[in-house]
Amino acid sequence: MRKNIVAGNWKMNNDLAQTETLITDLKAQTQTSNAEVMIAPTATNLWQAYQTLKDTSGIEVIAQNMHFAENGAYTGEVSAAMLKSVGVTTVILGHSERREYFNETDALLAKKVDAALANDMRTIFCFGEELADRKAGNEEAVVEAQIKNALFHLGADAFKNIVLAYEPVWAIGTGETASPEQAQDMHAFIRKTLADTYGAEVADNMSILYGGSVKPANAQEIFSKPDVDGGLIGGAALKATDFYAIVNAF
Ligand code: 13P
Repeated sequence: MRKNIVAGNWKMNNDLAQTETLITDLKAQTQTSNAEVMIAPTATNLWQAYQTLKDTSGIEVIAQNMHFAENGAYTGEVSAAMLKSVGVTTVILGHSERREYFNETDALLAKKVDAALANDMRTIFCFGEELADRKAGNEEAVVEAQIKNALFHLGADAFKNIVLAYEPVWAIGTGETASPEQAQDMHAFIRKTLADTYGAEVADNMSILYGGSVKPANAQEIFSKPDVDGGLIGGAALKATDFYAIVNAF
């Protein structure tokens, strides 16, 4: 079923003590919306975050990345099984920072998505065009290719465990957001792309999040659009009051 989701991507911020402080602050907030709430701390702090939040909070602890292999000679990497062993069952894959700084390609991401699904993990799959693509009017073609190359080998059933996150690269960490209309147009295009291949049911049930400089001041307008089902929040997720102002914007 299509759900509203607000997920905080902490990126490479917050050591263990800072993670504990932010989680304490998050637990002190009141949720008035029906959104599912998730936070993605750095890998070293997932277990502690999971232990602190698992029973009462309604906040799911998720991972920012994982490797496609079950285990083996991949120095520095973390597998799906390892994430599951610390209570994590949702993983962000395909973030533009992973694509840009770690050379993650559509083909690699297809393998990661397969590994997540094989381990019964939910994937928040990220994609989005760069500024040059948008200036050239190619944003839909770029997004369509990213989605198709990494996901369209899957059967329809697999999409129950996938959430899509449209994050235009030019809006990430820049203070510049896509306008609510730009977000809506792209989300509608993504839903149509899904519907064309997998049918209306898969498309209608898909949660499509927007990411890129979402703040308390602009969240409500973006979330009011019919095809925007939530947000993937970077900078504003690092302050509990800002994050919950966004969570409660639904
Ligand atoms: P900002 O909210 O800091 O722009 O980051 C968005 C993002 O990359 C979330 O994954």
